Amino acid sequence: MKNAKTVFFCQECGYRSPKWLGRCPACGSWNRFVEEEVGGRESAESAGERGYGSDPVPIDAIDAADADRFKTGIGEFDRVLGGGLVAGATILIGGDPGIGKSTLLMQVLHRIADAGLKTLYISGEESSRQIKIRGDRIEALSSNLVVLVEVSLDAIIKRIDELKPAVVVVDSIQTMYSDVFTSAPGSVTQVREASEKLIVLAKKTGVPLFLIGHVTKDGSIAGPRVLEHMVDTVLYFEGDSGHDFRIIRAVKNRFGPTNEIGVFEMGEKGLAEVENPSALFLSERPGGAAGSVVTASMEGTRPVLVEVQSLVSETNFGIPRRTTIGVEHNRVSLLAAVLDRVCGFNLSGFDIFVNVAGGVRLGEPAVDLAVVSSLASSFLKRPVDSGTLVFGEVGLTGEVRGVGQVHARVREAGRMGFSRCVTPESAAESAALIDGVTVVGVSTIGELIERLF
Ligand code: TYD
Ligand code: MG
Repeated sequence: MKNAKTVFFCQECGYRSPKWLGRCPACGSWNRFVEEEVGGRESAESAGERGYGSDPVPIDAIDAADADRFKTGIGEFDRVLGGGLVAGATILIGGDPGIGKSTLLMQVLHRIADAGLKTLYISGEESSRQIKIRGDRIEALSSNLVVLVEVSLDAIIKRIDELKPAVVVVDSIQTMYSDVFTSAPGSVTQVREASEKLIVLAKKTGVPLFLIGHVTKDGSIAGPRVLEHMVDTVLYFEGDSGHDFRIIRAVKNRFGPTNEIGVFEMGEKGLAEVENPSALFLSERPGGAAGSVVTASMEGTRPVLVEVQSLVSETNFGIPRRTTIGVEHNRVSLLAAVLDRVCGFNLSGFDIFVNVAGGVRLGEPAVDLAVVSSLASSFLKRPVDSGTLVFGEVGLTGEVRGVGQVHARVREAGRMGFSRCVTPESAAESAALIDGVTVVGVSTIGELIERLF
């Protein structure tokens, strides 16, 4: 170990420093620097194996038929992947402990195994007995689904070579260990080394590879940020501990759109696909309660109806609070200020709490109008008619702006039994009456308040 070069890595974000630091200048976390050896004891020949060893090819001579994409058979999962698995793709899946990452991938492998292809599940976290118990529970027992309990990277690569599986799952990348480095599994150097080697293997052999990743306190995937750059697809598995349903979301996808979500429900026999997410998200809606408003948010190509709830109550201590769950905090502050200015609601003396029911996260501007309606409804203590749905973007002067996919949203509202949609004026022109749903256009939030209450 003489003269071995070491540097310090932030275990949270992978920031590299020649000396120990108390606080990471990149991510701000405290006391997360660990000394790791870099350079490794790699021999020249194994370094040569890292590349793909491919030849230059003219671009029009490359065969890239879409036939390479194969479906896992789990519709909600295929949707998030952009229509199925691509040969040689590497997919990183992150999520809180216990959310169901191992269960989901086990089910995916079982589906593929059932179709007659050999699949390999590599676990560094659980014993084969534990895996069997889960397999029993979700009825994922097939002789084509091979389980390997292993943490040594070299052994894993050898096994993949021997078994030639059609799909590989590595659960989890933080448990994998390479002899080349002395640092502990889960450290930045080890995670980077293991993922690099496995990604090259996937690309070389064309075998799709799933890497399960742990998440840090703030919810991002643990280990170096570069991990997310190295893989083709990054999926996050989200859910609320108080609810059974789970949402899988693509945050990066080289082979498809990133805004699609897949919805599942965790049950006694593993994860079941949810075909009608709107019904699920609206199932516990309180009828006729002030502050509750339903909106239609586009999640990828699909409109999903969700309930936005607000509570506006008088401030007891000096500074009014603004707490939001599921919608952006700044967006709510902005909309409250617009409501204050344009409609004369004196919200500065009120605490505001906004929540999207069911733990869904909304990022679309089209939900603005629902946030405004629900704030107004709670402030005025007057419920919005339960057969009314609201969507539209709100500007700083209180104008209501047009949004895309009007027809899809209104149709979903009709399907779920809503009789009226309050929309931007421009949308109402194009869709006065769709599937029995009356479309009412508003051009300002003043008009909105008039229409709703
Ligand atoms: P798991 O897939 O082990 O989570 P992760 O790999 O993300 O840590 O899922 C564990 C949780 O899921 C555990 O709390 C039990 C629950 N579960 C069910 O409710 N039903 C099931 O059929 C299975 C297999 C797990
Ligand atoms: Mg697990």
